[in-house]
Amino acid sequence: MTANATSKVVSVTMSSSDGEDDEIRVIHSAEQTRFARGWHCLGLAAPFRDGKPHQLKAFGTELVIFADAETDELKILNAYCPHMGGNLSKGKIVGDSVACPFHEWRWRGDGKCSGIPYARRVPARARTKSWTALERNGQLYVWNDPEGNPPPDGVTIPEIKGAYSPDWSNWTWNSILIEGSHCREMVDNVVDMAHFFYIHFMMPTYFKNVFEGHVATQLASYQPRGDVAFADMDMDWAAETGVFGDATYYGPSYMINAQWNSDGKPAEDQEPDTVLINCHYPVSSTSFVLMWGAITKKQPGMNDAEADAAAAYYIKGMEASFMQDVVIWQDKIKIDNPLLCDEDGPVYQLRRWYDQFYVDTADVKPEMVDRFEFEIDTIRARSFWDDEMKKNIATGNIVGAAPTPS
Ligand code: FES
Ligand SMILES: [Fe+2]
Repeated sequence: MTANATSKVVSVTMSSSDGEDDEIRVIHSAEQTRFARGWHCLGLAAPFRDGKPHQLKAFGTELVIFADAETDELKILNAYCPHMGGNLSKGKIVGDSVACPFHEWRWRGDGKCSGIPYARRVPARARTKSWTALERNGQLYVWNDPEGNPPPDGVTIPEIKGAYSPDWSNWTWNSILIEGSHCREMVDNVVDMAHFFYIHFMMPTYFKNVFEGHVATQLASYQPRGDVAFADMDMDWAAETGVFGDATYYGPSYMINAQWNSDGKPAEDQEPDTVLINCHYPVSSTSFVLMWGAITKKQPGMNDAEADAAAAYYIKGMEASFMQDVVIWQDKIKIDNPLLCDEDGPVYQLRRWYDQFYVDTADVKPEMVDRFEFEIDTIRARSFWDDEMKKNIATGNIVGAAPTPS
């Protein structure tokens, strides 16, 4: 159980007289009211630079984001003005500050009140909360820490080479508000091997996890299911070569998914063909904004527009994949004690890694951050799935068109 969580049992234990073996599994589901410590991406940086303050609901509160007109740096403050509660995002940017629409108090990016035009002096303690911001890879990130500490050394978002290279496309980006689910549902995907076959119509042929410190990785190869009609999606290339992906969370909510269209592991120095971002920030304890983006390497002869179109194509596939997850989340319950089989992957170890972001730094235990590696044995699952797909193909029982993005 994590800090600040209230435990809730959602079914009743019933045992028969035959003893313990017949006990019905009780699902535990605790509400997590704390928000994760870590960097959270808030989207592409450029749209915040339109000369206006922007309101953003996150971490159970409201933020205002604005570009300091003197330095052009993006700044993040609490949205509500400490004077009499005005909403700064409805105000305007004046020099290095945002001016409240109610009485024009001005608030600088560091949280200090920089002026009250009608007053003789600024009260000594006129300060609001400034959130630590980071701009990298063309994206804006905010640091959340319920204890109020700055990000520790080494806990950062890595630079993505392609995001700074003229040989790569621009970002394609999209987002959706997910209501009625905790964002842990998204993170569980890191280890959940079997759902890729049933939900995403991709058969894992290799699946390994590595967790260490604030980083969690999924290394996996996939083949698209042969018994699924992928509608408008061209999956022939993937069927031929397979897809290899390194999907790594840096902290609780920002995943970089580098993909190679090959069936082998990439050579150490080989650049990926495509980089997908899968990230989110919590809005409340039961809602989050899910965002996804893609850049792709320009193939020989591709111009900028064609490269951007290729990135948009990848993002559509990703979008379809997210919607497949969302459909499940809409009806499922948050489960803290899943009942697992050997092929399910290290769900509990992932949850331990994830819990490090929900406890005070002093309560982070070695088992949350120590290196952990696990490769799932996919042999049994693959032989069953191969047979099932063959049967479906032979009988013409094509598993319906996989949802395609509109
Ligand atoms: S409420 Fe913001 S200036 Fe008065
Ligand atoms: Fe998924």
